[in-house]
Amino acid sequence: MKTIATINFKGGVGKTTVTWCLGETVSQIPGKHTLMFDLDAQMSLTQAVTFNEDGSPIRSFTDWQQRSIERKKTIFNALEQFTTPSEHFDFPIGYDFIYQISDTYHFVPAIEDLYWTELEVFERTMVKEFIRRLLAKIDNSKQLPKYDFVFFDCPPSFSLLSYSVLSCCDLVLIPINPDFYATKGLNLLLNSLRMRIEPFPVPKIGVFMNKAKKPGGASLRRYSQETERYLGDAKTVVQSAIMQQRLKAKVFDATIPDRVGIKRAVQEGIPFELKQPFRDLWQEIEEFLNDHK
Ligand SMILES: Nc1ncnc2c1ncn2[C@@H]1O[C@H](COP(=O)(O)OP(=O)(O)OP(=O)(O)O)[C@@H](O)[C@H]1O
Ligand SMILES: [Mg+2]
Repeated sequence: MKTIATINFKGGVGKTTVTWCLGETVSQIPGKHTLMFDLDAQMSLTQAVTFNEDGSPIRSFTDWQQRSIERKKTIFNALEQFTTPSEHFDFPIGYDFIYQISDTYHFVPAIEDLYWTELEVFERTMVKEFIRRLLAKIDNSKQLPKYDFVFFDCPPSFSLLSYSVLSCCDLVLIPINPDFYATKGLNLLLNSLRMRIEPFPVPKIGVFMNKAKKPGGASLRRYSQETERYLGDAKTVVQSAIMQQRLKAKVFDATIPDRVGIKRAVQEGIPFELKQPFRDLWQEIEEFLNDHK
């Protein structure tokens, strides 16, 4: 089981969209099972799974979610149980906690209660082991498949749950956009990561460009000048983090182009022309995960 958390403190860079599409890409590889977590209290991913584009609810999911809430099987219930002092973390995990999008693509939705998690008295030190213990339960479950990859869609802030994920994930995936703020945010994130995570092992860091733009006119260049410049800047920032922060980090060569059609990806699947870019990106991610140098 390899775990991947998509994080960027900058909002709207495509964390939710690309995480979902990567999960779908992997689940379509024969024999692979993917589990996707929505850890964002804004619930963007969960809402995209809940509603059709016309706003009508997707019945199979809303019925399942209702049952999950009634049986106290949501991720919030798990967190409450985990943080109750002196109680053993006895939270059996099955298909009332995990929703099956397809045979090979499974999903743990966010829940409104998460919104208040940050204000409750959950202690950082108490929550940090939560995701690690939850994953151990999932891995040991007889009912569930052995997941090859677990993805976490994280909020654009350093929440308690993202802290908990960062302390146990194999790879932090950072999407950036071709704009001025991309490298500024990246610098901030990379320079504070080690300090925030230690004494836990610091995960690998993979950066890639989302919403990459093509050049105008008949130019044969791969990208627009702007996209190329910001990609170059990102490489410089990552290189300096490798040297100064001793991070295992990389800017992937594969990029995801700017395409309006991606907006419907959660309901309708990855648009045909984006399938290959996501496969290319996934190939690099997997190689990086397996690189033990
Ligand atoms: N490659 C792309 N091409 C065009 N639009 C995209 C692309 N990727 C994402 N978008 C759009 O950008 C917007 C923001 O995407 P998304 O919600 O995935 O970002 P996010 O980083 O998860 O946001 P938040 O910080 O609020 O969680 C959405 O409207 C989405 O459809
Ligand atoms: Mg999001």
